[in-house]
Amino acid sequence: MLGHDTIYVMAPDLIRTVLLDEADNFKKGEIVRRALGPALGDAILTADGSRWRWQRRAVAAIFRQERVRGFLPAMIAAAERTRNRWHSLPSGAEIDVAQEMMRTTFDIILHTVLPVRDNIDTELMKRSVTHYLEPTSWIVALAMIGAPSWVPYPGIYRARQGRKQLHVMLESLIGQAKQSPADRNDLLSLLMNATDPETGRPMTAMDVRDNLLTFITAGHETTALALTWTLYLLSLHPEVERRVKREIAAATGGGPVRPTHIDALGYTHQVIQEAMRLYPPAALIVREARRDVTLGTEHVRAGTSVYVPVYAVHRHETLWREPDRFDPSRFEPAAAQARDRYSYLPFGAGPRICIGQNFALLEAAAVLATLLSSFQLRIRPSHNPSLGCG
Ligand code: HEM
Repeated sequence: MLGHDTIYVMAPDLIRTVLLDEADNFKKGEIVRRALGPALGDAILTADGSRWRWQRRAVAAIFRQERVRGFLPAMIAAAERTRNRWHSLPSGAEIDVAQEMMRTTFDIILHTVLPVRDNIDTELMKRSVTHYLEPTSWIVALAMIGAPSWVPYPGIYRARQGRKQLHVMLESLIGQAKQSPADRNDLLSLLMNATDPETGRPMTAMDVRDNLLTFITAGHETTALALTWTLYLLSLHPEVERRVKREIAAATGGGPVRPTHIDALGYTHQVIQEAMRLYPPAALIVREARRDVTLGTEHVRAGTSVYVPVYAVHRHETLWREPDRFDPSRFEPAAAQARDRYSYLPFGAGPRICIGQNFALLEAAAVLATLLSSFQLRIRPSHNPSLGCG
């Protein structure tokens, strides 16, 4: 593309090579940093090598399965706030599900990994995140074609304002935490107490801020998209929706959703997995060859962009029977186990696999269970949701 070599890797065994076996040969690289660096700095999502490794280790504890389960009450409480908001609407009211899910998952991230401080203006923070995220597809697309960084895109002014606002808010949060260094165990404390094993130095205030912003953004928009497409697919497939609702009712006994109910939602979990197959929230995984390597029959020169087009892999005819059909039975345990692990990549794979995977799956199940216990959503007949830019 425009004189720059790009390779699309779609065969599961080669995807495994890129993401796992030879992960050291494929770094995040310039495109990722160009697209996300201005906002997310050189933090966990964008950094490479030893700089990435210690940042990942620093926060790993908060994403362990047992710890994440401890967030379930806060996840359910946030979903209940959304449910209560919907209850106050007149019957048959129309809602923008994408916005509602974004609001719910944002609420969850603030009340879990970043226990919300009373003095944060959460509405302003949410608005700033929205403004800042809006033009992401444009930024990524421009970075992919190698356009100079000064090329403007729709929403650039609001995005910059949003970023500035977020930086101010997070820096003030960090300043306050420094003044009262209580023995907390949240993400902010983990970041502030981490030291680089190579230099022995703690993170700078800027690194802490950039990591917080990474978790706030990476940790809510993706799950919101997964939930939005799940609700969309359920509205088109009432028989699946009925089965999900039956499963939720059987788990809860018709009462409120509680953390102990989530493990009983096996079919609901399959539905979420299938929704993320058809509509993967992270549709493209981007790497850059660090040195000359051979990939299958291809010689790949250092500097080549290497893309794993997750959306296309998830709908490839040689990997999936009737790939465009919504069919949650594909994720029955036996069927899922029989499949090549590298044909299904909503959370990526290898060392850079999504650190929030367990968090997101529990969160999605908790939100769906809470909302579907009370509501049935139907898509407006004329509405045809679109993918991608704009
Ligand atoms: C359905 C929801 C989610 C999806 C589909 C998703 C998807 C992904 C994918 C595909 C990657 C790997 C990117 C790559 O290899 O280049 C990733 C990385 C990451 N995700 Fe998620 N994510 C989700 C939810 C979350 C949540 C809830 C959090 C945190 C609370 C989170 C935090 C991160 C971080 C920090 C990374 C970078 C990890 C690293 O490079 O070491 N994600 N995510």
